[in-house]
Amino acid sequence: MVSAATRKNLLKVRVMDFITSIAILPLLFGCVGIFSLFKLLQYMRMKAYIRNAVVIITGATSGLGRECARVFFAAGAKLVLCGRNREALEELTRELAASRVTEVQTHKPYIVTFDLADPGAIVAATSEILQCFGYVDVLINNAGISYRGAIIDTSTDVDKRVMETNYFGPVALTKALLPSMIKRRHGHIVAISSIQGKISIPFRSAYSATPS
Ligand SMILES: NC(=O)c1ccc[n+]([C@@H]2O[C@H](COP(=O)([O-])OP(=O)(O)OC[C@H]3O[C@@H](n4cnc5c(N)ncnc54)[C@H](OP(=O)(O)O)[C@@H]3O)[C@@H](O)[C@H]2O)c1
Repeated sequence: MVSAATRKNLLKVRVMDFITSIAILPLLFGCVGIFSLFKLLQYMRMKAYIRNAVVIITGATSGLGRECARVFFAAGAKLVLCGRNREALEELTRELAASRVTEVQTHKPYIVTFDLADPGAIVAATSEILQCFGYVDVLINNAGISYRGAIIDTSTDVDKRVMETNYFGPVALTKALLPSMIKRRHGHIVAISSIQGKISIPFRSAYSATPS
């Protein structure tokens, strides 16, 4: 014999189950839809921002920097490609010019060569960079060197070289470009780091100290 109260409770549970089973899918799809729309708007805004933006990429001759150059060029950014190897940068600009980009207007990149481990060269490079387009929207501090070796066998000169290139050089370049960004009240600075600054791996101490 089921009491009236129990029957009422059972009915309540059934109603709740029904509502949940009906509402869960629209709720889920609604959330996914809103998130996707947000991401799409964010992507469109970012694309619009990058178009015609002046983007400086250090270490553009190879690896990640070269790939960044391709992506930003295709998005319509005005690039200043930096590195030490002028020939490699010239080869990259030829490759970019030959690439077929139809969606947006592209811009011929400038090349500025300098050694990040040389403080004097950074000062000269900064004015050269600023002369290219007159201002900087985005600085991508990507250049860096890697090193593997036991601490005991690594000379202090090597430690210094890795630190100068991966840390002090980018810091000096950032400080040199900051006044122009502050003056325009506009600019973004990207620092390419490494997970090795967070976790320790054998034979990587000289390098791991630099992105931490
Ligand atoms: N590859 C990875 O797995 C990895 C993982 C985590 C983080 N990262 C970081 O990501 C960044 C790029 O790495 P990657 O693997 O693409 O490096 P990569 O292919 O070896 O390229 C390094 C770039 O830095 C430039 N560079 C090196 N020393 C320089 C100096 N003294 N002055 C000016 N430019 C200098 C090089 O250009 P020039 O030779 O023309 O000077 C080159 O374009 C680095 O900061 C690295 O620490 C890489």
